[in-house]
Amino acid sequence: MPFLKDYLNLSIEAAHIAGEIQKRSFGRTIRVDFKGPKDLVTEVDQQCEEAILKHITKTYPDHNILSEEGGAFQSDSPFRWIIDPLDGTTNYAHGYPFFCVSIALEQDEEIILGIAYNPMMNELFTAIKGEGSFLNGTPIHVSGTDKLEHALLATGRLTRKKENMDVHFLQFRRLAMNAQATRRDGSAVLDLCYVAAGRFDGFWESGLNPWDSAAGSIIIKESGGEITNFTGRPFNPFFPELLASNGALHQLIMEILNIA
Ligand code: IPD
Ligand code: CA
Ligand code: CA
Repeated sequence: MPFLKDYLNLSIEAAHIAGEIQKRSFGRTIRVDFKGPKDLVTEVDQQCEEAILKHITKTYPDHNILSEEGGAFQSDSPFRWIIDPLDGTTNYAHGYPFFCVSIALEQDEEIILGIAYNPMMNELFTAIKGEGSFLNGTPIHVSGTDKLEHALLATGRLTRKKENMDVHFLQFRRLAMNAQATRRDGSAVLDLCYVAAGRFDGFWESGLNPWDSAAGSIIIKESGGEITNFTGRPFNPFFPELLASNGALHQLIMEILNIA
């Protein structure tokens, strides 16, 4: 039976392989297809997925797989890898260097490790359940900011579903008015890691998929942060909305998100 460290090392190897593919093709002309009107997939997303799955399944052919670009495998194994081969595809396609590879591992539906690798900055965020979170091997912690006017907040796409757009803009407006500043940087995984590292004090988004949040969620928890849905229920990667914060600001942000 492998140790968690073995799974972690394998996922780091896979992330480095994918990161190299991302760096090699960054800024070049690549094929871009559309999964929806504003939902891009590039040939690099697909090449990264193929390389990651090849690397993982070579060692663990019986593990379940859930990966964004369709790489799925179901078995009786208690383990499931949740993979976003390239988080920040829109950024990537525009030559905006903010994106990453994200890999999480679940055992019996509990996330037990997560990693995110930003190849442009050579930043590797990692967490194993119960062992803390790390950036390039150094422990990271959420910020101690306890006033919204001192907080740097981040969010993601506000325009995914037309029927929810007004609510999303209202939430954004209220938080933007109350916080020191807000960012929308285009990689939910890195946004979560930035909260874990104390760079952001909070992050919220709705319309996410499990591969956008699985790895980041354990990196947040293991760095001392908090992650729930907008009403404070425990985080579930299959529930599309999430609020992640340094803990100190969680209640306050949640109240603002929920003002009727
Ligand atoms: C997207 C990014 C983005 C977030 C979107 C995600 P993708 O993932 O994480 O920041 O706002 O909700 O879908 O498509 O680039 O892997
Ligand atoms: Ca994603
Ligand atoms: Ca992706």
